[in-house]
Amino acid sequence: MIAYYNGHFCDKAAIVISPDDRGFLFGDGLYEVMRSYEGKLFELELHLARLAYGLDQLRITGVDLGQTGAMAQELLLKNSLLQGDATIYLQITRGVAERVHHFPAAGTPPTLYACARRLSPNRELPLQGVPVVSVADQRWSRCDIKATGLAANVLASQAAKEKNAFEALFVRGGFWLEGSRTNVFFVKNNVLRTAAADQFILHGVTRAVVLRLARSLGIENRESAVTTEEVAQVEEAFLAGTTIEILPIIKIDGRTISGGQPGPITCRLRDALRHLTAGLRVS
Ligand code: PDD
Repeated sequence: MIAYYNGHFCDKAAIVISPDDRGFLFGDGLYEVMRSYEGKLFELELHLARLAYGLDQLRITGVDLGQTGAMAQELLLKNSLLQGDATIYLQITRGVAERVHHFPAAGTPPTLYACARRLSPNRELPLQGVPVVSVADQRWSRCDIKATGLAANVLASQAAKEKNAFEALFVRGGFWLEGSRTNVFFVKNNVLRTAAADQFILHGVTRAVVLRLARSLGIENRESAVTTEEVAQVEEAFLAGTTIEILPIIKIDGRTISGGQPGPITCRLRDALRHLTAGLRVS
């Protein structure tokens, strides 16, 4: 596999990352997961805007994002991924320096790493739906920054796996916010609901696309998280994310919802998103 590391394309296996890298020592960095359909990057601008926002918030300087699209495209080419679907993982850390908590000396170059790999989506899950469980949100209060420190997400995801669930949904102060690696939408009284894009969720690219599609389809929607009380009454729910697109939820904490079937609004949005990406495949 050919990867990108600090300005060069090279064999992934040959990359050596310093144990003094602040990503390794502190989780002091950011990442993005982008997707390509037949070699076309999906919503590149939204991913880059989120990355630029994260860099700004973490005050990591010295990164030129101008070439990111070309670099991602080159990774796809070099790894024979221009056909079919692929994901591009990109990580930026504050660089390599002796271990002190505060920022290293000005001018310390950030570390930049990226790789691409084939994605073979499960074709059945979007049709069948998946079970999810809830977990207490133990993350920090800047979930809008796509930071690499994901221990709380890892624990949540493992808790879901141990309960044979596809995803864990974070609940903070009685509000159902998002999944460990996905955003979550509910339908209650025919209104599409998802948590507001504040500091307690990641502002998902797919989330933004789903809201855009909902508006264009005339589906009433509100950016306001559902509460535990409300979850008991939802008609439909689904997960949204770059790698899973839209996945209907059919069980929450062991309770069947939506009659155990993907709901009608979920299906409309799932199909609209599929239509959008099918356009990328042929264009
Ligand atoms: N996860 N919420 C969280 C906590 C996430 O980690 C992600 C993405 C999302 C969905 O965002 P997007 O639609 O931009 O993919 C929501 C990535 C894919 C990951 O960690 O692998």
